[in-house]
Amino acid sequence: MVNVLQTPEDATRAANSIRAAGSRMGFVPTMGALHEGHLALVRKARESTDHVMVSIFVNPTQFGPNEDFARYPRDLDGDVKKVTGAGATMVFAPETNAMYPDGESTRVRVGGLDEHLCGPFRPGHFEGVATVVAKLFAIVGPCVAVFGRKDYQQLAILRRMVKDLFLPVEIVGHPIVRERDGLALSSRNAYLSAEERMRALSLSRGLFAAARSFAAGQRRAGHLLGLCKSDVARGADTIDYVTLADADSLVPIEDDQTIDRGVLAIAARIGKTRLIDNFVLGEDPVPSSPTL
Ligand code: PAJ
Repeated sequence: MVNVLQTPEDATRAANSIRAAGSRMGFVPTMGALHEGHLALVRKARESTDHVMVSIFVNPTQFGPNEDFARYPRDLDGDVKKVTGAGATMVFAPETNAMYPDGESTRVRVGGLDEHLCGPFRPGHFEGVATVVAKLFAIVGPCVAVFGRKDYQQLAILRRMVKDLFLPVEIVGHPIVRERDGLALSSRNAYLSAEERMRALSLSRGLFAAARSFAAGQRRAGHLLGLCKSDVARGADTIDYVTLADADSLVPIEDDQTIDRGVLAIAARIGKTRLIDNFVLGEDPVPSSPTL
């Protein structure tokens, strides 16, 4: 079973001793309630490193006042077993006051990229993410850190942060892991009733409809977006956004433009559960099964 570390000092010491022995350090930050998507990141980190640390910390500063911080699923024992099976060697599971001790007051904000997609709908969210990940990177030190492309905007923001702050971290992105029927794995899927779970498929269906049209030669942004929106509208209760944006700057693309590449991104609510999903047109492989 993996070694569970609770204090930042212990985590730093463990990472330092791994590097001192000449080994490469892998790092996978998570909020727990782990599923196959998280475990794929652990396996990916293992491919290029000798030791992988998984952090499990439900970060309060990235949740808004009306979001699900209090009820976010927590299962440390189950998570420890899962990451052990996936090849991690250490878990870092700090208490909240170890990461945010009395008097701490520094925040990290990555400008520009936080203005689009989820930014306006979740004020302060990405500042909370960037802040906690900066703290985690400082604790762990030089490492290869793997993040999922499921949180596409988060990945873009963290890449920017590492570059801008000259942090000694190599960021690796991992493709979205999906259920067989297309639903992107998420810890929040646990909130869905059976009926909501069916309607949640409208997100991936919309993305794949646009992806197939793109693969067949359609290049008009408005047309591709329209295809996606009509599927999402059939299943979602409310839609925060369905947007086609530049895959690097995340700036929305006008309907009358033609594209060679772009990220199609969705945030929508099924019942009370907010789900996100995305597909990079011109980059991600189009699913082979026509039933998806
Ligand atoms: P969490 O939602 O637990 O996700 C941890 C990592 O798993 C993120 O990099 C996320 O993109 C990835 N992930 C989740 N579902 C995935 C899927 N279906 N396929 C591929 N990767 C997936 O993201 C966070 O936690 C937090 O914001 C964190 C970065 C830990 C900072 O608190």
